[in-house]
Amino acid sequence: MYDIEYLRRVEFPQAAEQIYFNHAAIAPLPQRSKRAIQAAVDALSRDPSGYFANQVMPAFEEIGRKIARHINAASPAEIVTTTSTSAALNAVAQAIVWQPGDNILFCDVEFPANAYPWMSLARDGVATRCVPADGGGLTLDRLTDFCDEHTRAVTVSAVQFLTGHRADLTAIGQFCRANEILFIVDAIQAIGHMRFDVQAMHIDVLATGGQKSLLALPGTGFLYVREVVAEAMRPRLIHSNATVDYIHWLAYDLTPATATARLNVGTPNVPGIMGIGASLDLMAELGIDQIDAHTTGLTRYGGAALARAGYEVLTPLDVAGPILTFRSPFDSPTTDRLILFLNERRIVAGKHLDAEGAPYVRFSFHAYNTLEEIDRCLAAMGLFVN
Ligand SMILES: Cc1ncc(COP(=O)(O)O)c(C=O)c1O
Repeated sequence: MYDIEYLRRVEFPQAAEQIYFNHAAIAPLPQRSKRAIQAAVDALSRDPSGYFANQVMPAFEEIGRKIARHINAASPAEIVTTTSTSAALNAVAQAIVWQPGDNILFCDVEFPANAYPWMSLARDGVATRCVPADGGGLTLDRLTDFCDEHTRAVTVSAVQFLTGHRADLTAIGQFCRANEILFIVDAIQAIGHMRFDVQAMHIDVLATGGQKSLLALPGTGFLYVREVVAEAMRPRLIHSNATVDYIHWLAYDLTPATATARLNVGTPNVPGIMGIGASLDLMAELGIDQIDAHTTGLTRYGGAALARAGYEVLTPLDVAGPILTFRSPFDSPTTDRLILFLNERRIVAGKHLDAEGAPYVRFSFHAYNTLEEIDRCLAAMGLFVN
């Protein structure tokens, strides 16, 4: 049940003291996730061997199932935990068997986590093509102009970090699958905000860090790779638990583990992953479609109010999610002062620059934010402007 008062009081009590619109940078932990993390830290300080032997493995299996359910993966074997989005995407970039002359497409407003891992493949003769943003992000129309018979992969953020554009994953995924192009998604700004169905959307790879939309700790995250795609991978970053017989430590056998397990990244951050499990429980209880309707509603409401007040809204409100960005009416140092002015009034928002260095203000919402908070924030901005 989506009871926002209960949610604010029980899971996000800090909301009583501040207006927090910075989830796209780093999100607060729900209370239940904090408790799960603390319980894991306690157990690790008391009896780490017993805890690993008796509790960690079954808990991780359960969390693998929860992640698989959350994104509708065919099997938990298609999922590993990871340490950040860029770690996961670098692992994937270094595991796909590329051919010189292959190219990878992404949009020119992607966060570097979803650009640098691909750009670094230039030394292998793999080219990247930057597709100009179309209304704030990657669209199928624009994408098809840049594809050719050497296009091996298309990669996109489900929701763009700066513009807030929400990609049509189903349309892009269908096109990619029909043309035997790998479809890769950076989900960090969307995974706790909108429904993912990796099967229906034809997603081959989905990577997310924990610290934003997923309401989990920094230094955590997960990676999904479709089983047949994983089986064709030959990882160049090989962690001690990523081989087929890894428990037999001194056999030094590089044969990759089955499916996505070949992308394991060493001993996991156990408390952090326990936190992901608890945050997924919260999302399942609230209902991901309800969270989506709520946060997208906040973006549309705030966007309309900003436009009425004369601000230039960057986010395309018809294809938006939890991120609302507008052009700052000030230069960059004055925009810093605006952010500080809001901070002093216990309102947290973010400032970002576009490629030319123009400053923007970004509000990023989560399940417990309210319309009234947006009204209060805009009133505070009005005080600064005047
Ligand atoms: C779209 C996107 N991907 C990834 C990240 C973070 O990358 P990482 O998890 O590697 O720190 C951000 C952070 O702002 C982001 O907006």
